[in-house]
Amino acid sequence: MITRRFSRVRPTRQNMVMNFAFEAQRTQQRLLAELDFSQLTSQQKTIFVKRLEKGFASLFKQLLPLYGHCFDLHYHLKVLLQSFIDFHKKKRPAQIKDKAEYWFESNQNVGIAVYVDLLADDLSSLIGKVPYFESLGVNYVHLMPLYLAPEGNSDGGYAISDYRTVSPSLGTNKDLKDLASALHKKGIRMVLDFVFNHTSDEHRWAEAAKSGDQEFQDYYHFMGEQDAMEYNQTVREIFPQIRRGSFTYSPELDCHVWTTFNSFQWDLNYSNPAVFVAVVEEMLHLILNGCDVLRLDALAFVWKEKGTVCENLPKAHNLIKAFKACLDIAAPQVVFKSEAIVHPDEVNKYIGADECTLSYNPLMMALLWESLATRQTNLLYQSLERSFKIPEHTTWVNYIRCHDDIGWLWDDAVSDRLSMNGYDHRHFLNQFYTGQFDGSFAAGVPFQENPVNGDCRVCGTLASLAGVENAIQANDPILLDHAIKRIRLLNGINFAMPGIPLLYQGDDLGVLNNNDYLSDPTKAKDSRWVHRKKFTKDDFALAADIETPQGRIAQLIREMIQIRKANPVFAAQEFELISLGSQHLFAFKRQMDDKTLLVIANMSEHLVPLGHLPLGKSLSELIGQGTAVNLLNKELVDLPALSLIEPLDIFWLTKA
Ligand code: GLC
Ligand code: GLC
Repeated sequence: MITRRFSRVRPTRQNMVMNFAFEAQRTQQRLLAELDFSQLTSQQKTIFVKRLEKGFASLFKQLLPLYGHCFDLHYHLKVLLQSFIDFHKKKRPAQIKDKAEYWFESNQNVGIAVYVDLLADDLSSLIGKVPYFESLGVNYVHLMPLYLAPEGNSDGGYAISDYRTVSPSLGTNKDLKDLASALHKKGIRMVLDFVFNHTSDEHRWAEAAKSGDQEFQDYYHFMGEQDAMEYNQTVREIFPQIRRGSFTYSPELDCHVWTTFNSFQWDLNYSNPAVFVAVVEEMLHLILNGCDVLRLDALAFVWKEKGTVCENLPKAHNLIKAFKACLDIAAPQVVFKSEAIVHPDEVNKYIGADECTLSYNPLMMALLWESLATRQTNLLYQSLERSFKIPEHTTWVNYIRCHDDIGWLWDDAVSDRLSMNGYDHRHFLNQFYTGQFDGSFAAGVPFQENPVNGDCRVCGTLASLAGVENAIQANDPILLDHAIKRIRLLNGINFAMPGIPLLYQGDDLGVLNNNDYLSDPTKAKDSRWVHRKKFTKDDFALAADIETPQGRIAQLIREMIQIRKANPVFAAQEFELISLGSQHLFAFKRQMDDKTLLVIANMSEHLVPLGHLPLGKSLSELIGQGTAVNLLNKELVDLPALSLIEPLDIFWLTKA
């Protein structure tokens, strides 16, 4: 105590360093004394204070680098904590009974992402689809954005005008809560989007800013032409076909506003602590709907600094960790899932106990498609070797398709080592998947071609990209067989890799690309709608008929889900990539106690011989002596005799 007083009078180099623990504690005590707990029962207050005491230091630690210089930080902290108290007394739909802390590591997890209005009509009719989710075996449902958004183009709902109101076309807030309850009753978790990089230009904050309210003008990034030009020199263009650069001129304000995505999606200004606090309050409202996972949309873009790329900046991590600290205090049972579709090293930085528990795995997704096109697995192996491992008790969300485009994001140092030119190889993949490469099986559509650097991404459904569409058109049973095998192969890897496998709506029904969007002027310029179709009875009928390609796809996916859920080894945390001495094969092993799962996949349309295993080992040594069984078809496999892998075949091997 005395030392501290003394140090305040005569700062020395050593004691000028802030005593963090002391300051965090002191700020917390001051705030606790100022907060209004009158709405809580004494029991509620005890629980709340306990959580606050546990989490406050982490929150304080993240907020200091962001807002330590703001003279009014104490005020903002008080507003923030008071909002936690208000939240604490509010009712939410009952939680899922499964209390396992690390539920996301279970082999029971299988996810699907759906648009409410495309799978059903609205939220209340989606309740009628719960039996479909159950029969498919999914227990994790991501509902694509369903909040109030501008009429017409709203970037598929990712331009949000009010986080607290469900879009009237989909129903009411009560409908959403009822849906959450209906899902929870069946043990299905609900995932909602937390779109916190931007709001729509019709959000009440944006409207207030437009009307000249300074308080809300500070919520966004407004600037003159010169500044916008300077930022544009270092910032990546995400939607170059919408507009060049990252800014949109606002005639109302006669200035430029930051719009990373569409011009009606205004980026929030997190250098203003009021924005952080206001967005946390919106986040709590999302949680009140009963969600179990929040998907952090476009999280790489949230912090900007001039002269940088304004993506993945260190302070973006402080900010997300601060949100996570708020979550841990207010709603610790909810977890974050990261949507970082960026360089793999940067993807991994968002994953951790103090940041995002779950993360999309865009690297594996892109490289599975890459190896199907090249029939080679080197880039896949070497990239996963470098990036697949993530901290304990965090989990990948593995997927093959999603509502967005496919971008070819791997680390060029890896492709360089393999003597591949990254730029050329991406060009090849774009050509290949958009049907501009002779002999390609894929029927994809280009997305956001950049006229300056030639960059481009790819859209299309799983079935169309894997070759089903072309095979049907050519009326060629062999091509069709290959295409369906590719789907089996991709899913066979996706369901077996460590992580939560996430289906995209229609993957399981074998739906093909759909061009209806071209006749809708609000969608025609966004080719992602080619894989966002409204489902009809016919889609389900085709998938129910085993004689159709769709039926074959539906069946193989359903079977894989059942096998995954019936075998605990799919929850194994021990994981190893296995080289089988062939550039066409991909293999990995998972181990749980004495149980091993060995997956072997042949990415080519040829019979491929097994090469030498590392250290001269044999397959039996990997799995254990005795006969093995391929879980996918229940056939016994004599491992010593296994020397050739059939075209596009996959094995899920365990000891019989
Ligand atoms: C995310 C979404 C994408 C959207 C963008 C802007 O990447 O997945 O669909 O366009 O964010 O919100
Ligand atoms: C995302 C990604 C980008 C993706 C886009 C949606 O946030 O960073 O690569 O394609 O938004 O299309």
